[in-house]
Amino acid sequence: MRSVRDIKAFENIPVLVRAALNVPVMHGNVVSDYRLRRAVPTIQYLRECGAKVILISHIGEQGTETLAPVARALGELVPRVSFFGETIGERARRAVRELAPGDVLVLENLRRDRGEKMNSHAFAHELAALADVFVQDSFDTCHRPHASIIGVPELLPSYAGLLLEEEVRELSRALDPKHPALAVIGGAKFSTKEPVLTTLFKTYDQVFVGGALASDFLKAKGQDVGASLVSLTDPSRIKNILNDPRLILPIDSVIQDDKILDHGPGTIALLTDLAKNAKTILWNGPLGKYEDGFVEATDAFARAIAASGARSVIGGGDTVAALEGLGLLSHFSFVSTGGGAMLEFLARGTLPGIEALGR
Ligand code: 3PG
Repeated sequence: MRSVRDIKAFENIPVLVRAALNVPVMHGNVVSDYRLRRAVPTIQYLRECGAKVILISHIGEQGTETLAPVARALGELVPRVSFFGETIGERARRAVRELAPGDVLVLENLRRDRGEKMNSHAFAHELAALADVFVQDSFDTCHRPHASIIGVPELLPSYAGLLLEEEVRELSRALDPKHPALAVIGGAKFSTKEPVLTTLFKTYDQVFVGGALASDFLKAKGQDVGASLVSLTDPSRIKNILNDPRLILPIDSVIQDDKILDHGPGTIALLTDLAKNAKTILWNGPLGKYEDGFVEATDAFARAIAASGARSVIGGGDTVAALEGLGLLSHFSFVSTGGGAMLEFLARGTLPGIEALGR
């Protein structure tokens, strides 16, 4: 990947940055600014080089949300941030022309335009018309074949931002771990985790499958999981993994209304022991139904990693939010801003948005 640091002349140049501004907002306020803080180095680097910085991002799945409160929150981290409530078109281009070197302009949610998700050529052209250079810094969306991810790099000289570079470097390192290496994959939906599990079974010594995902495995082993959430996957796919000696499953559970909602004390003790002995720990996905208050296993495992001497790499929106709440983020070696993107990168070693920069 060409790096943003390779761009020679910046002064007065409009630079379009695809940033990761998809952060949780409640009642018009950003409730976790973790991704925003991670977006700052690239923005500041460009500002200090005298570029006019134009930030584009999506927020939310559907395109109904606005980036206005996010721009306000970013303005507390970076000087001279303003917001314009449109994404493309003559008025957006005029707003860009009015920028002075070092100004930062946040444009409206990319997904307000259907062309973003469809990777429409016309929409990508409109985005490219805003600037002379493109910088990709939204690792979290590099697995999406959208206009701002794979369309724009075909139209402008394109570079990786500092955050994207760091994500690629650190996650590539996690694919070549120091042993003993422990991987912990939680969350739900086997189909989205299957490719990463396949990779991890090749590179990690122990792979703990937890969270709702574990119910799929316990069920495939013939255990009764009651009314627990299971994905509708062909059980024979799981059976291939079940016999792998590296696989570790929970040994007890917290149950309510016939549903497994968290791991029990025996599993927490097991995980704590595994963390103590590991040199590398990779973790994505909460271990219990965190959003409903079943936080015990997730919190205990986070504390066990923080207390261990292992190199720790964690990611996944829910996991990161949980650890941020515990004030533990600084105890981990690397915290990825990606959820699905992290899993897909670990599975494939690259992503469509990264490949698009290399063309
Ligand atoms: C994320 O939060 O994982 C990324 O921003 C991608 O968002 P998406 O799942 O709505 O594409």
